[in-house]
Amino acid sequence: MKLAVAGGTGTVGVHVVEVARERGHDVVVLSRSAGVDLVTGAGLSDAMSGVEAVVDVASTRTVSAKESTAFFAAVTRNLLEAESAACVGHHLALSIVGIDEAPHGYYAGKVEQESLVRAGAVPWTILRATQFHEFAGQIRAQASFGPVSIIPKMVSQPIAAREVAERLIDLAERSPAGRVADLGGPREERMAEMVRRYARAIGARGLVLEVPIPGAYGRAMRDGTLVTTTESDHGLQTFDQWSAAQAR
Ligand SMILES: NC(=O)c1ccc[n+]([C@@H]2O[C@H](COP(=O)([O-])OP(=O)(O)OC[C@H]3O[C@@H](n4cnc5c(N)ncnc54)[C@H](OP(=O)(O)O)[C@@H]3O)[C@@H](O)[C@H]2O)c1
Repeated sequence: MKLAVAGGTGTVGVHVVEVARERGHDVVVLSRSAGVDLVTGAGLSDAMSGVEAVVDVASTRTVSAKESTAFFAAVTRNLLEAESAACVGHHLALSIVGIDEAPHGYYAGKVEQESLVRAGAVPWTILRATQFHEFAGQIRAQASFGPVSIIPKMVSQPIAAREVAERLIDLAERSPAGRVADLGGPREERMAEMVRRYARAIGARGLVLEVPIPGAYGRAMRDGTLVTTTESDHGLQTFDQWSAAQAR
């Protein structure tokens, strides 16, 4: 089957492309480094020729609600329009557990993305996942000041990006299914602990301070809003197994 992967060079996108190719699918990557700008739409219609399903794992690194909403709205509208013109039969979007209950700027864009996909003319599937294992390293890089890392008090349920990619390709191989069961990691972890263990695994030194973030989003980070419910599916690779593999 011919698949297009929007954001196929990103953290989860590289795994989506790898899994799809391992299973014998023909893959076209939609990203700026592959010559397609999903925000302006440049290069998109040519890339869509013969595509049967689109997996959207494009993203932006902003925490601004305005910027995130503008990004996900433009990307989703452009993808859906190009898919309709090319008679693509399946649009799959990767979203995040808890986006509609946790008021975070980036999540505003994800809520907009989901609502455009649901209202769109292309048959769709939406998978929500929890944070990837990589999140601990990303947050550590953003929140470190010299040897001190200031990490929000947060309960996470990290999952291997590779396992999310495998689920996305399973779904792409089936008919459009609407919103499917959420996918979370095998266990709940405290983000500050994850950062400490990740730093140890890669041989980095320093102090990790855990700080409660005020406001509704801070509460959502602490109270389990961002982890899965009992009806969800779970991956197998633990954060420590993933960290050990990174260290090797
Ligand atoms: N990170 C997490 O923990 C997590 C958890 C659950 C769900 N998700 C969701 O998973 C998806 C992927 O997240 P990620 O962390 O893997 O993203 P990421 O590493 O930041 O990668 C973003 C991708 O989007 C592409 N991109 C950005 N702007 C573009 C543009 N204007 N035109 C074309 N491509 C563009 C980038 O490629 P170029 O730079 O080459 O354009 C890159 O391939 C997102 O929808 C996110 O909400 C993330």
